Amino acid sequence: SLEQSLRPQTLKQYIGQDKVKQNLAIFIEAAKLRQETLDHVLLYGPPGLGKTTLAAVIANEMGVNLRTTSGPAIERPGDLAAILTALEPGDVLFIDEIHRLPRSIEEVLYPAMEDFCLDIVIGKGPSARSVRLDLPPFTLVGATTRAGALSAPLRDRFGVLSRLEYYTEQQLTDIVVRTAEIFDTEIDGHGAGEIARRSRGTPRIANRLLKRVRDYAQVRGDGSITYSLSDEALQLLQVDRLGLDHIDHKLLRGIIERFKGGPVGLDTIAASIGEESHTIEDVYEPYLLQIGFIQRTPRGRIVSDLAYRHFNLQAPAK
Ligand code: ADE
Repeated sequence: SLEQSLRPQTLKQYIGQDKVKQNLAIFIEAAKLRQETLDHVLLYGPPGLGKTTLAAVIANEMGVNLRTTSGPAIERPGDLAAILTALEPGDVLFIDEIHRLPRSIEEVLYPAMEDFCLDIVIGKGPSARSVRLDLPPFTLVGATTRAGALSAPLRDRFGVLSRLEYYTEQQLTDIVVRTAEIFDTEIDGHGAGEIARRSRGTPRIANRLLKRVRDYAQVRGDGSITYSLSDEALQLLQVDRLGLDHIDHKLLRGIIERFKGGPVGLDTIAASIGEESHTIEDVYEPYLLQIGFIQRTPRGRIVSDLAYRHFNLQAPAK
């Protein structure tokens, strides 16, 4: 589908994350030269930066199948056993949100990662016995928004730890131009640049905004995307000049208006604006921390002077 063709297939096509790519290119080439399976890879960082895409690129570059699942989808040891025993030698198993894997499953995963075997218990009560099952060698690619939420023994079993970073404006501009080409949509550099600037360093957001701006161009314009058309469309979408949306505003204004700019605890602010603490912590807060609009202190979150200025408000005197 068009949606799938947006995803780069190779490291060469993949824009950004240069350090991660350079390292992976070496590990992949070395594994292929030795005719070995690639070591297990943990990808971590904020959502939308391309962890799933990178897992698919790794499988493609290794010339193996990609099998995909997620932490919450694996409820019982049998679920994991079914996936692992169906793998072919060298395959990549991608586990998204691996920090949400139940602890009981993690323990099944350790010998699978380390020795490519599975210890399963057959039967119940006095007749129960443990059998050891050999697995094909495989590469586990785990993805998480928080490496800190992973248990130490699980984290220690990954040979490659890669942190994905927010993309630069130029990298996002390149991604927007590439996607527009795939969509057969005309766009100029200023139009692409404006979408990039308002995408919070995140390709998933850039591609989503591009789709909406393209709709706007088709209905209100002549189909081609310029700076002023992007600006109009993004204003209508309530995406501000820095790419902050309705929920970012609610979060920042909530702290400013109800808690005098903080410090305020995460759970308190979450309850006050009616959002999940985890969603704030994993999805909204990382970018606001990155641009210096929020700071974390031992006593809670505070909104910075920079954020007050963005809203044309006077920060309280310290
Ligand atoms: N589309 C989404 N993310 C991308 C990336 N990192 N490189 C190229 N195209 C993309």
